[in-house]
Parts: sequence; C-alpha cells; structure tokens
Amino acid sequence: MKGVIFNVFEDCVSREFGPDTWEELLDEANLLGAYTSLGNYSDDEFDALLRAVAARQGKTQADALRWFGESAMPILKERFPQLFANYASSRNFVLAVNTIIHPEVRKLYSGANCPNFRFKETESGSLFMGYESSRKMCDLAHGFIVGASKLWCEEVNITHHTCMNHDDDKCLMEIQWQR
Ligand code: HEM
Repeated sequence: MKGVIFNVFEDCVSREFGPDTWEELLDEANLLGAYTSLGNYSDDEFDALLRAVAARQGKTQADALRWFGESAMPILKERFPQLFANYASSRNFVLAVNTIIHPEVRKLYSGANCPNFRFKETESGSLFMGYESSRKMCDLAHGFIVGASKLWCEEVNITHHTCMNHDDDKCLMEIQWQR
C-alpha cells in the first residue's frame, strides 16, 4: 500500500482522536511508522493499524475502514484539489474513478495498485459498481463514496449485494443518490 494512504490515515486519526493517538496506535500495532508518501508498505501494516483503530473505536474492521474512507475524502480534496475540480456531482466524480482519478494517482505514485471498477447505470437511477481486488477493500470504496457525496452536499445509500468478505467471488454494490 502506498505511503500516501498511511499519511492520510494518520491525518484522519489525529483529527478525530488528537495528535498523540497515531503514535499510540503504532505502538499497539508494533510498528515504527515513518511512512513516506511515495514509499510502498505492506498491506499487513495497514491491516494492523486498522485493527488498532477499530479496537479504539469499538467498531468492526469493516466499519473502521468505512470511517477511514469517509474521513479521508475531505483530506484528499485538500491534498489533491485538481482531482476534485470540474465535477458537477459526486456521481460524476465516482464515475471518473477508472478513467481519470486513479490514472492520475498512478502518474503521481508510480506502482500504485489502484483497483478498477465496473459500472452499470440503471433506468431507476441506481449505479451498480463491481469490484474485485485481492485486498478486499470494498469498505474503503464504500467510505470514499459516502465521503465524496458529502463533499457535494449529497446523500447516498450503498447496498452490498455480493461481497468478497462474505465468500462471494466479487463485490457488487448498488449506489443510490437521495438528492
Ligand atoms: C470515489 C472515488 C474512489 C474510490 C471508490 C476509490 C477506491 C479505492 C480502493 C477500494 C482502493 C484500495 C486498493 C484495492 O482495492 O486494491 C484504492 C486505493 C487507492 N486510491 Fe482510490 N478511490 C477513489 C478515489 C481516490 C482519490 C480521489 C485518490 C486521491 C489520491 C485515490 C488514491 C488512491 C491510492 C493512492 C490508493 C492506494 C494504491 C496503492 O497503495 O497501491 N483514490 N482506491
């Protein structure tokens, strides 16, 4: 996992729990920290930090990952305003993740292993989003989308119809915008 994700995670933790908490979580996870944005670090380190934050929040790891994704969006917007400009809605932003956003991320962070999503829009207005990754981080995607909807002052409901974390082959999420 790219160091920039750890850096944003640290920002989210510090904003929610105060500046000393990141060091405490590193201790609890037996990690040294010192993540540089361009570096690559093992997914196990991310998982250990996620477990530590979930324990502190009294949440499941899935809920902690959604919390991280949602809290990360405003921070990503501060760090990468150019990636958020020119979208009239969070739906358009989400639909650009494969074609514009993650390709730009791969230019900025060589070797970034960003996932590809499959999208299908329905007549009822729902957006179906398919996701496959060995990291099984659909809850991060969920949190990112909730966080993005808030940036555009919108609301979304997300239903996980199938989920790799529940033994399905792929994840299929349905995203419904309320307004
Ligand atoms: C709604 C929009 C977005 C969605 C749904 C999304 C989803 C995801 C997911 C699920 C991952 C985890 C990797 C995996 O599944 O294998 C990921 C990785 C990543 N995303 Fe996105 N993302 C979005 C927008 C962004 C934005 C705005 C940035 C801005 C920097 C970003 C940067 C990254 C980076 C750096 C990684 C880590 C890649 C690596 O460590 O190799 N994403 N994204």
